[in-house]
Amino acid sequence: MYSEKVMDHFSNPRNMGEIENPSGVGTVGNAKCGDIMRMYLDVDEAGVIRDVKFKTFGCGAAVATSSMATELVKGRTVEEALQVTNKAVMEALDGLPPVKVHCSLLAEEAIHAALWDYAKRQGIVIEGLKEPVADISESPPARL
Ligand code: FES
Repeated sequence: MYSEKVMDHFSNPRNMGEIENPSGVGTVGNAKCGDIMRMYLDVDEAGVIRDVKFKTFGCGAAVATSSMATELVKGRTVEEALQVTNKAVMEALDGLPPVKVHCSLLAEEAIHAALWDYAKRQGIVIEGLKEPVADISESPPARL
């Protein structure tokens, strides 16, 4: 049912934890399943994501997608991080079962929420970044 990469990131998640004094923090949830995801960013003066950590009360797919998402945004600029969609994360994980696609949205939205918080603190606008939703179960159906 799950790819080897999903199992690997689930059993051995990368970048789990929190960042003290982060540049931005975002928390999103899915009221339907009750899962919650929090993302912390440490962004340097050049707008490059130096470090990223996540914490979740979430299912295995949420853990695996968040772990992969953090790997994909680390070392990227905030603009590049915006291009890391749930589709890109799922591809990097060699796919997810259809019923678990919404879990990957939790990771994408948590990154967007953290970027939004970062932009707000900096007083800047990140081109293309929309105000994040707090509850992904109210957002439009998962993009595939
Ligand atoms: Fe809720 Fe996966 S079942 S995030």
